[in-house]
Amino acid sequence: MTVASPPLRQLSFASHKVLKDGSWIVVRIDLPDLPVICKIIKGDAEKLRREVTRIEALRETFPTLAQLMPAIVGQGHLRGCMPEGRPYYLQEFVGGTTLGDALQQGGEIATGAQAMLGPILRALLDHVDEHRPIEMVDPRQWLFSSLTRALDRLKDLPVIDTLARASSIVINGRRRDGLAACLARLLLMAEAMLPADAITVSALGHWNFHAQNLILTDEKPTGFAIIDPDSSLETCDPMFGIARLLYSFPHDVAEQGGYRLVTDHLLRDEMPNPRFEVEFGWIHTAIAAYGALYHGLFAPGRLPRAVDLDRRLADPAQALRLHLNLLLCLMRGAAVNHEPDFQVVDGNLRHLRNNGVFLYLHAVDLANTLLDTSRGRP
Ligand SMILES: Nc1ncnc2c1ncn2[C@@H]1O[C@H](COP(=O)(O)OP(=O)(O)O)[C@@H](O)[C@H]1O
Ligand SMILES: [Mg+2]
Repeated sequence: MTVASPPLRQLSFASHKVLKDGSWIVVRIDLPDLPVICKIIKGDAEKLRREVTRIEALRETFPTLAQLMPAIVGQGHLRGCMPEGRPYYLQEFVGGTTLGDALQQGGEIATGAQAMLGPILRALLDHVDEHRPIEMVDPRQWLFSSLTRALDRLKDLPVIDTLARASSIVINGRRRDGLAACLARLLLMAEAMLPADAITVSALGHWNFHAQNLILTDEKPTGFAIIDPDSSLETCDPMFGIARLLYSFPHDVAEQGGYRLVTDHLLRDEMPNPRFEVEFGWIHTAIAAYGALYHGLFAPGRLPRAVDLDRRLADPAQALRLHLNLLLCLMRGAAVNHEPDFQVVDGNLRHLRNNGVFLYLHAVDLANTLLDTSRGRP
């Protein structure tokens, strides 16, 4: 599909819908002949340029993604508004519901979305195989040093630094070892269990297949579309994109503030063993709806069951690769979403929210669960 790029000042916003207002304003606007998405960046014009370049490169390079990703149909700057000259791009509009929204709705819509998890995972794993490995990079070394660097980054962030130094954290009544000690043991385990040829590293990828970036459509044969690559990441293991799918539950809960941390963290000076109860505001049916993607704090000791959905993930080396990428994804998420302080909720100094800490607790839980599982402990 091609649409001439119209200067946006000629477009009428009389018929529009704002879909998201974050670091971008994402608006559906109705052109005379068809609806399009207009993504207007706040501030960082370079980020928009990277995203447009990435979408075009992905569609040119990967046949699977070319079928699944809507095309860019124009770009420019907003004129005559404040601030003057905001950059935007236009993209084909995909009719449907995001996978995340469908899972949260419960009922038949969620059941239909759950039925799509297998086909989606299969298509995304086909795409993992499309990547061309970078010859010069040792892939295991790349993964291990990425995990180590992600941990180092967390040690320098306000609030999380205290947790990163703690030797253990009590989460929902279970004593969990600190992340640094877990990671050291996990890397030793991976040295032994992850063959060098079980993993690749690629210089171009989408990397961002979480459930708010997958749109369920009625379009055959795929039934879904993919938007919004992570253009802040260049080189990565293609399995990281699949890990982002497994990251959907904590991501969506954090984005909607659907949790609270019950803790004495604000009230005590010294916390040799920090304690957190993580309570979810989401109704349990919505949590259950994430199904095979769900892992974490309501399911102690359980790894995501997504590995049951495709036989390629039944290979223990591939499952380990996926789970180490999920750990990397959670640690990156904790850093990117870190907030310098807690937000008090419900007017109670023991009820707090901080997305970085919330994601960090998921990382600690996953690292411990991976070690326990490898030792045959539930
Ligand atoms: N091409 C599109 N077609 C339909 N809906 C879209 C499209 N692009 C974005 N959206 C909707 O807008 C939301 C935010 O857009 P996204 O590109 O993911 O922005 P962000 O970078 O802020 O996550 C998506 O979750 C989806 O609901
Ligand atoms: Mg998005």
